[in-house]
Amino acid sequence: MADDTSRFMAMKGAGYYSRATVGARDVITGATPVVLAALDRQGLGDDGPAIGFTDMGCADGGTSLEMWGAVFRALRERLPERAFQLTYTDLPRNDFSQLFRIVHGQTDLPAYAEGIENLYIAASATSFHKPIVPPGTLNLGFSATASHYVSRTPCDIPDHVHMVGARGDVRAAYQAQGARDWEAFLSARSRELAPGGRLVLYNFGIDEQGRYLGHTGGVSMFDTFARLWRGLADAGVITEEEFRATNFPQAYRTVEEFAAPFEDPSSPVRQSGLRLEEIGTTHTRCPFEAAFTDDHRDPVRFAREYIPTLRSWSEPTFVAGLNPARGAAEIAQIIDRFYGDYEAEVAARPEGHAMDYIHCRVVAVKEG
Ligand SMILES: C[S@@+](CC[C@H](N)C(=O)[O-])C[C@H]1O[C@@H](n2cnc3c(N)ncnc32)[C@H](O)[C@@H]1O
Repeated sequence: MADDTSRFMAMKGAGYYSRATVGARDVITGATPVVLAALDRQGLGDDGPAIGFTDMGCADGGTSLEMWGAVFRALRERLPERAFQLTYTDLPRNDFSQLFRIVHGQTDLPAYAEGIENLYIAASATSFHKPIVPPGTLNLGFSATASHYVSRTPCDIPDHVHMVGARGDVRAAYQAQGARDWEAFLSARSRELAPGGRLVLYNFGIDEQGRYLGHTGGVSMFDTFARLWRGLADAGVITEEEFRATNFPQAYRTVEEFAAPFEDPSSPVRQSGLRLEEIGTTHTRCPFEAAFTDDHRDPVRFAREYIPTLRSWSEPTFVAGLNPARGAAEIAQIIDRFYGDYEAEVAARPEGHAMDYIHCRVVAVKEG
């Protein structure tokens, strides 16, 4: 069944997302020099309108705190007077209230906003497949680990829950949706960017070796999800219809697919003057597997610490597959059982389990 994903997409709320997602935070913190270099290349002076920033698909904002703090502090040294305007963006069901508490220092995370003068923070719930800020006002558009979410699931995925496990027409339908949404994402950004403005995007995708999130040589995470969910269907805990209705609203693109709109002369992206400056892939090791392998060697602890990072972003998809008529308590029970099965499997046979991150880093400039 095709589905508009903006009606259910959100990370697990109440701060769970950023507490559990150390790896995503490491990726963003590691992007700090790339963001600063992209700003440096713009030669921005101390006068003029506010410098516009976006953090697209920000979730609760906790994973990008360190990066924005470092970027604004470094930029403020060079530009003591100029206003900075950061727009956090996500979908309407995102926990924006938690985002504001995190950013304004009302949690135990180290916030940056109160320490930087002339910094204006706002939020938008407009999808990143559409324009978010007014034309020509964006100097630095940032997004991490978000552009793989597609605006609609084109069809159900038989025998799997993710397009990486799909074949033939089904795989092609997700790739086509991914291509349409990537073009829409870039076209909207091109309109927003000021001349010389940059995009710095860390996108989940498939690298040159065919690796992707949780599929870097050991036990494949999405195959494990599909097998355990199938197990619940076989045991009669969920229905066949619910299994079929469980589809990650995601398209993992290859490096070629990310580059295509910049290279094709007939693409509206290329025609709009958006140019690729850098493209490449990065591999970030799963911090929970690293702690287990290199340090504590306790499989029960590994399983207990590892499952929440999977759960922080995958749970909404499994919940969305279940019939809402079951009621919240029964749904919670099924979901707990599912992740409990995963945890038990990791605790019993930990070797090979890991959620390593594979990103395709795209830096682009608006000519002008
Ligand atoms: C895995 S989280 C990444 C959060 C954060 N950027 C990070 O790297 O830790 C992906 C986020 O993208 C958001 N998202 C998905 N589709 C979106 C869309 N069309 N427009 C804006 N945000 C979207 C989700 O709601 C979610 O909060």
